[in-house]
Amino acid sequence: EKSGYDHYMLKEIHEQPSSLRQCLRGRIDELEGTVNLEELSDIDHDGPVQFVACGTSYHAAMFGAERLRAGCVSAQAFLASEYASDRVPVDGDTLVVGVTQSGETADTLRALREAARAGATTLAVTNTVASSAARECDHALYIRAGPEIGVAATKTFASQQLALAMLAFELGDDPTRAELEALRDVPGQVQTVLETTDAKAVAEAYVDADAYFSVGRGYHYPVALEGALKMKEITYRHAEGFAAGELKHGPLALVTENTPVFAIVTGDGETARKTIGNVKQIASRDAPIVVVTDGKSRVTRYADHVLEIPATDDLGGSVLANVQLQLVAYWIAHGLERSIDKPRHLAKSVTVE
Ligand code: F6R
Repeated sequence: EKSGYDHYMLKEIHEQPSSLRQCLRGRIDELEGTVNLEELSDIDHDGPVQFVACGTSYHAAMFGAERLRAGCVSAQAFLASEYASDRVPVDGDTLVVGVTQSGETADTLRALREAARAGATTLAVTNTVASSAARECDHALYIRAGPEIGVAATKTFASQQLALAMLAFELGDDPTRAELEALRDVPGQVQTVLETTDAKAVAEAYVDADAYFSVGRGYHYPVALEGALKMKEITYRHAEGFAAGELKHGPLALVTENTPVFAIVTGDGETARKTIGNVKQIASRDAPIVVVTDGKSRVTRYADHVLEIPATDDLGGSVLANVQLQLVAYWIAHGLERSIDKPRHLAKSVTVE
């Protein structure tokens, strides 16, 4: 039942405020200033962490690894299909985290099994209770996003982001009050994005572009990759995400006046300043610039379009920015009359390697 929406994808994008509230429910203790993940109360881990995942879940894993490193935990994200226990240092001190919405992705299950054989402790971060990943791993952390029907993952990515942010507090440094409040505020801010977004107008402006690029740094880098993946899947157009600093090392040659570049910039610190430098390099090649920003920096002066998000920290900002990119991809695909909920050649759950 699509509840009046044209597609499950749009419905699921709009479900994010409530699915994110479910993800956080009972897990943040503001009085104590702690995050409590009941399922993981018996995890006592202080060694390195390796993430294994595919596709959208891999982008969430990259985000999770970045967050863990910020909390002083050694962490790395691997594409599950590339993970081989004889080529990475994995042993009894390692926690291997499979990030998988379905809990049934063959590549991810294989990587988890291999890690378990090498002696690692395993954790499934999944949406699906009693899935293979949840049953086979030593531990399971549920993202509680509810069923996702659209083949393109949307609400589950956002819930993976918040679940992994909470995992970082469980395994690494305790949260500051500001970090806890930022987490708590994400669902309401996503609601604000949904109510105020100009994504449809941006999509209409660029429905005939030659290609779409997205750039970001830090937490925004995996979101740039995810924005491009969503665009590829449902519009069948060429889209590519880059680390903002990498453009000048090659991809800048692709940029023309017919390749809009989406730049994610939040706050006004060092990360924002550097990305703005990259945005200037793009603007001087005449590419249209769409900035996804909280407006705290001066990046908007280089923008042809602005997709505004509420002000929060970089971590929360990356969840909000992703919602804007989901909507742009959706409305471009809508304009092109694509089969949005069931894109060609794709399946919701990929059970072969
Ligand atoms: C993209 C998408 C896929 C999945 C990938 C992993 O929108 O849905 O890239 O993210 O196939 O699936 P799970 O998370 O079920 O392991």
